Amino acid sequence: MAGLFPKWMNALPTVGALAGVGGLVSVVAGGWYWLTPDFWEVGFMPEQPGSGFNHQIHAGTLGIDCRYCHTHVEDSKHSNVPSVATCWGCHSEGKISEDRVPAEKVQFIRTAYASGETIPWENIHVVPDYANFPHHVHVNAGVSCYSCHGQIRGMPVVYQDQSLAMGWCLDCHRNPEQFLVPPEMVTDLIWVEQEWMSKPVEERAHNGMTPEMLVQELRENPPQHCAACHY
Ligand code: HEC
Ligand code: HEC
Ligand code: HEC
Ligand code: HEC
Ligand code: HEC
Repeated sequence: MAGLFPKWMNALPTVGALAGVGGLVSVVAGGWYWLTPDFWEVGFMPEQPGSGFNHQIHAGTLGIDCRYCHTHVEDSKHSNVPSVATCWGCHSEGKISEDRVPAEKVQFIRTAYASGETIPWENIHVVPDYANFPHHVHVNAGVSCYSCHGQIRGMPVVYQDQSLAMGWCLDCHRNPEQFLVPPEMVTDLIWVEQEWMSKPVEERAHNGMTPEMLVQELRENPPQHCAACHY
């Protein structure tokens, strides 16, 4: 049996499970598809340190704005995750009652803060170095976090929602009107999902702004020529 299958199949974690339900033929036929980055990376959800960080609680239930923690989304080519001081601001001893947040759940924050260390969060979204992706330009143009990261306000643990492949970049660059939202709504992901993206493009409007007007307000059309993304 073993010699029948190419080596790369050893790396497919789900192959055993699928073979078990008789899906082996389609797995082999779909081999090239499975090997593309689109398949590998969507759903990527590495284990996070300590008790982790729950976006559903903080950005969903508590409603803390993304920019409270991701302070550089509007002014930097690279976004950022918050330093431990941001967590400490709410989770230092005595701030939130023990009944609400048991001390052991946030001990990893206090330990890191006391020793001046950073919490080693695992990076999830990565664009290869040979491609130019200016994060802030997108946020400022009115592309919502929702279009590229999914419904983060409902995620207990963040995972990769979109492929981030070249074809994915181009799909939006060719049809920006389908994705642009009024810039002041960019971080309001529930609104974006329920009041904007759920409607056909022609029916979207907010304070007099329509997708067509948002496209006209862009500094320039999203580029499609190779050199814009590959130096
Ligand atoms: C209270 C702080 C806080 C708030 C508010 C917050 N985040 Fe985060 N975010 C974090 C931390 C800490 C991480 C790193 C740990 C993790 O990935 O869960 C993170 C990770 C992420 C990641 C994954 C980064 C990577 O490695 O690729 C994305 C995407 C993200 N946040 C988007 C959002 C969006 C969108 C919002 C607003 C709806 C938001 N965050 C609100 C603290 C926050
Ligand atoms: C603006 C205040 C605020 C900030 C900033 C904040 N938290 Fe929280 N956090 C809370 C509150 C309030 C709760 C309790 C929510 C509830 O009642 O369930 C909580 C709950 C938690 C819990 C326990 C719930 C769980 O996930 O199991 C953990 C762990 C936690 N936070 C980690 C963090 C980390 C890590 C950071 C920094 C990236 C952070 N928090 C930043 C307010 C904050
Ligand atoms: C046009 C798509 C797009 C939009 C819009 C977008 N992001 Fe991202 N984001 C990405 C990509 C792609 C990466 C990986 C970038 C890289 O590797 O340089 C990323 C990376 C991140 C990271 C990881 C930073 C780190 O330390 O590695 C965070 C956090 C993040 N984004 C948060 C946000 C938030 C919050 C918003 C909304 C205000 C947002 N993003 C809007 C595509 C987007
Ligand atoms: C959901 C929509 C969307 C996605 C996905 C997206 N972009 Fe864009 N991108 C835009 C828009 C809109 C603009 C135009 C911004 C402006 O003119 O202000 C833009 C502009 C750019 C620019 C020009 C920046 C400048 O300074 O003029 C580059 C480079 C770029 N994007 C790279 C990428 C790459 C690389 C990816 C994939 C990893 C990507 N984009 C994914 C919507 C998107
Ligand atoms: C809007 C941005 C954008 C434009 C325009 C663009 N690329 Fe890419 N390209 C990317 C990104 C992002 C990746 C990395 C995708 C990944 O992670 O798999 C990539 C990957 C590649 C790769 C590596 C192979 C692969 O598919 O993963 C090649 C080769 C390439 N691009 C060539 C081109 C050529 C030739 C053009 C012009 C016809 C072009 N690109 C235009 C964003 C772009």
